[in-house]
Amino acid sequence: MVSGMRLYSEAEFEPQARQFAAALASRGVQVQLEAVEKLNARFFRLNPELALSADADGLWLCAGGMKMRPDWKAEAGRLKRASLKSEMIARACNLAEKPQLIDATAGLGHDSLLMAHLGAQVTLLERHPVLFTLLEDAHRQAMQDPFLSAAASRIQLVFSDSADYLRQRAAQHQAADVVYLDPMFPQRDQHQQAVKKQAQVKKQMQLLHLLLPEHGEMDLGDNLLALAQAIAKRVVVKRPRLAVFLAGQAPQHQWQGDACRFDAYFQHDLML
Ligand SMILES: C[S@@+](CC[C@H](N)C(=O)[O-])C[C@H]1O[C@@H](n2cnc3c(N)ncnc32)[C@H](O)[C@@H]1O
Repeated sequence: MVSGMRLYSEAEFEPQARQFAAALASRGVQVQLEAVEKLNARFFRLNPELALSADADGLWLCAGGMKMRPDWKAEAGRLKRASLKSEMIARACNLAEKPQLIDATAGLGHDSLLMAHLGAQVTLLERHPVLFTLLEDAHRQAMQDPFLSAAASRIQLVFSDSADYLRQRAAQHQAADVVYLDPMFPQRDQHQQAVKKQAQVKKQMQLLHLLLPEHGEMDLGDNLLALAQAIAKRVVVKRPRLAVFLAGQAPQHQWQGDACRFDAYFQHDLML
């Protein structure tokens, strides 16, 4: 897990940079603020190490001459085309019922934004402090956006390891309608070969692999399945199309797409 990072900003955006630094420090990431005369492409090329930057658009993750953030505004086109019928995730998570849903592996929050747009009430969990702070900024901006604010208002962000959060919910007998799990970003080779992604998405993945290397390699999220099953009648797991089952457990139902699939586990006799 990261413990220290540089945060670049031009003088004009120093107050915002300080706020981001304070939020990150409260989550255990010490930030070294650096004033930069011009935060432009040349600067990022000359400073290729993993860092953060703040500008008029908010907080960014940068490395190798690139920068990225969870860009919820860029999802607007997809959301406008989405419907309960057209989206496989909507059928898998039974979004027609407007469920109380826990997305226990937030990442960039794109799946949750779509599910909230289609009516789910979402608790969004992320344990990585930098990713969480990027998400918080995306959520804040979405709340001010005329199109996105309705979906954003149905999303509550929680900074936590999901294993801890799910155990706590079970101890407090607090059920959820659905728990959604998508623990792993596809590995580099998988998404280059199997998934025809646009350049922008590939760029985002490269930066996320730099930020989350140890999670991608060591923690496969297998422990989350049983914890999720203890509190939800329906657990939905998103997997790369050919990936093994989470925790080696065969699902009761599957929805297959070109690049990914959704595995569903049902507990009809759940009593909390
Ligand atoms: C593949 S990404 C999820 C992508 C997401 N579905 C989206 O639409 O952007 C997985 C994320 O889950 C997070 N994660 C994995 N295990 C976790 C855990 N036990 N608790 C909280 N977050 C976890 C990782 O930090 C990573 O950001």
